[in-house]
Amino acid sequence: MKINNIVTTPYLDQKPGTSGLRKTVKDFQKRHYLENFVQSIFNVATELKGSLMILGGDGRYYNTEAIQIILKMAAAHGVREIMVGQNGILSTPAVSCLIRKYKAAGGIILSASHNPGGPDGDFGIKFNIANGGPAPTAFTDAVFNLSKTLDTYQIVEADDIPLDKLQTCGIGNMNIAVIDPVNDYAKLMESVFDFPRIQSLFSSGLFTMCFDAMHAVTGPYAHRIFEQQLGANVDAVINGMPLEDFAGGHPDPNLAHAKELVAVLNSGGSAPDFGAASDGDGDRNMIIGQRFFVNPSDSLAIMTANAHHLPGYRLGVRGVARSLPTSQAVDKVAQAMGIDCYETPTGWKYFGNLLDDKRITLCGEESFGSGSDHIREKDGIWAVLFWLNLIAIKQQSVEEITRSHWSRYGRHYYTRHDYEAIDIDVANALFDNLRGKIQTLHGKTYFGNKVVLCDDFSYTDPVDSSITTNQGIRILFANESRIVYRLSGTGTQGATLRVYIERYITDTSQHNEPTQTMLAELIQVAADIAQIPQRTKRTTPDVIT
Ligand code: G1P
Ligand code: ZN
Repeated sequence: MKINNIVTTPYLDQKPGTSGLRKTVKDFQKRHYLENFVQSIFNVATELKGSLMILGGDGRYYNTEAIQIILKMAAAHGVREIMVGQNGILSTPAVSCLIRKYKAAGGIILSASHNPGGPDGDFGIKFNIANGGPAPTAFTDAVFNLSKTLDTYQIVEADDIPLDKLQTCGIGNMNIAVIDPVNDYAKLMESVFDFPRIQSLFSSGLFTMCFDAMHAVTGPYAHRIFEQQLGANVDAVINGMPLEDFAGGHPDPNLAHAKELVAVLNSGGSAPDFGAASDGDGDRNMIIGQRFFVNPSDSLAIMTANAHHLPGYRLGVRGVARSLPTSQAVDKVAQAMGIDCYETPTGWKYFGNLLDDKRITLCGEESFGSGSDHIREKDGIWAVLFWLNLIAIKQQSVEEITRSHWSRYGRHYYTRHDYEAIDIDVANALFDNLRGKIQTLHGKTYFGNKVVLCDDFSYTDPVDSSITTNQGIRILFANESRIVYRLSGTGTQGATLRVYIERYITDTSQHNEPTQTMLAELIQVAADIAQIPQRTKRTTPDVIT
C-alpha cells in the first residue's frame, strides 16, 4: 500500500455550522479543499484507526467523487473497515443506525441536507461519533482549529472502487463492504413499529398515501418500506429516484418547496388520505392530511402524547427535548405526563447526551425534524411510520388526530419567517442592537402582550456541564406567546435571519383560524423590536413556514 504525503495549504473557512461543514460545490472543488477537511477530521478522530467506519451520502453532485477520495484517505489513516452504501447512497438516519448496529467508531455523511444540489448547488460533510450522533461542538471546534494550520494530508494511491454492485473489496489493508443502503434501516423500523397493523390499514383498500422523496435520498427507502413491505398503494412514492441535482428542486419538505405533494393532497375527492415528504438526506419530515398541515412542533407534541401506543415505546416516554425555537406545544404534554422537557440550542447534536443518558425518549425541532432514542439523528421515514402507525391504531385522519390534541392541550399557532442572504454586517448589527435592548424590554407591553423574560439563550448541558452561549434572543410574554430571533448556521450565502413566533390559544372555537392572521400582531412586534425593515430593507420574509 503506497501512502502519499501531499503538501497542502490550509483554508481558514472550514468552520462546521449547525450541521457539519456546508459550502458550495465550487468551494469543495477548490484544490485540496475536501481533502484538508477530511484530514482534519481524521486527525481528531484517532479512534477510527483500526476500527470500522460508515460512509455514504445523499446522492447529490460530487457525492461519489468525494467518496472515492475519502476511501483512499481512510486507508491511509489506518481505518480497518469501511461500510459504504451502494452507489454512495446512505441517508443520515441510516448512517446513525449502521454506526450503532455494527459498533463503528464513527461515520462520514456527505450531504448539505435540504440545500439545493448540482454543480451550482451546495455540498456538505458531517462526522458522526460512535453513539451514531453528530459530533459535539468540542469535536468540531478541534477540527476547525486543526484545519487552520493543516499542511499535509495522507492518501493511498489506488484505483477507484466500483460502488454500483454489492461486494466486499479493499484498498491496501482496509476492507470495504459495499452494502445495501436500506436493509439494516428497514429492519430497525420493523422493530419499532407495528408493521402488520400498518399493512392492514393499506390492505383495507380504504386508505392511501403519497410520499414525496423530492428526488433525494429517501426514494429507495420509501419504495422498499412503504410500497414493498407495507403494501401501500402502487403510486405511494413520487419523485423516488435520487438525482444529483434533485431535478433542480429544493429538497426541503415544507409547504413552500413540496408543492407537488401539497397539490396532490389538496386535489379533492380522489386525494390520498395521508401525505409526507423528506429532505435531501432523509432526516426531515413533513406530515400533511387532506388540505391540512401538521406543524412540526405539534407533530412532536402529538408523538409524545401517543408514543405508548406503539411497540417501540410501550414502556413510555422518559422525557422529551425540543430546540429553543420549537414551539412549547410539547411542554404542555410533558407537563401533563409529569416528565422532563429540555430546551436545547438549535441542532441535533444537543440531543445526543440527553438520549445517551436516558433522560429523554423523543426529541424534535420546528424545522421539520423529529426523532427518538432508536438512533441519534432526526429521522424522516421514522416520523412517517410513526404517523401511519398512529392512524392505524386510532382509525382517525391526520386532521382528527391533530384537532383532538389541540382540544386537550391547547393550540400553539406557530410560524417561522426567514430573511435570506442578508448582508452579514447588517445581520450582526441587528443582533447587536437587539442584545443591547434585552434589559430594557422586560415589563413592556405590546398589543396586550407583556414581556416577562428576554435573554440571549445559553444552554448548560445537564450531562457534561458544557455551556453553549449566544443561541438566540428569546422574548417570552405573560400569555405564553414567544418571539425568538437567531441567525442560521447552515446557510452558504450571506446571513439568514430566522424569526420564530408563537401564540398559545386554549379556546377551541379559535382553533380554526389562519396562522398568519392569528400571529399578525406578534409578527408586527417582532419586526418593530428588531427594526427588521429599517435594517434589512426587507418588508416581507423570503420563506414562511
Ligand atoms: C437548520 C434548522 C435546525 C436544523 C438544521 C439542520 O439550522 O433550523 O433546526 O437542526 O438546519 O437540519 P439553521 O440553518 O437554522 O442553523
Ligand atoms: Zn437533512
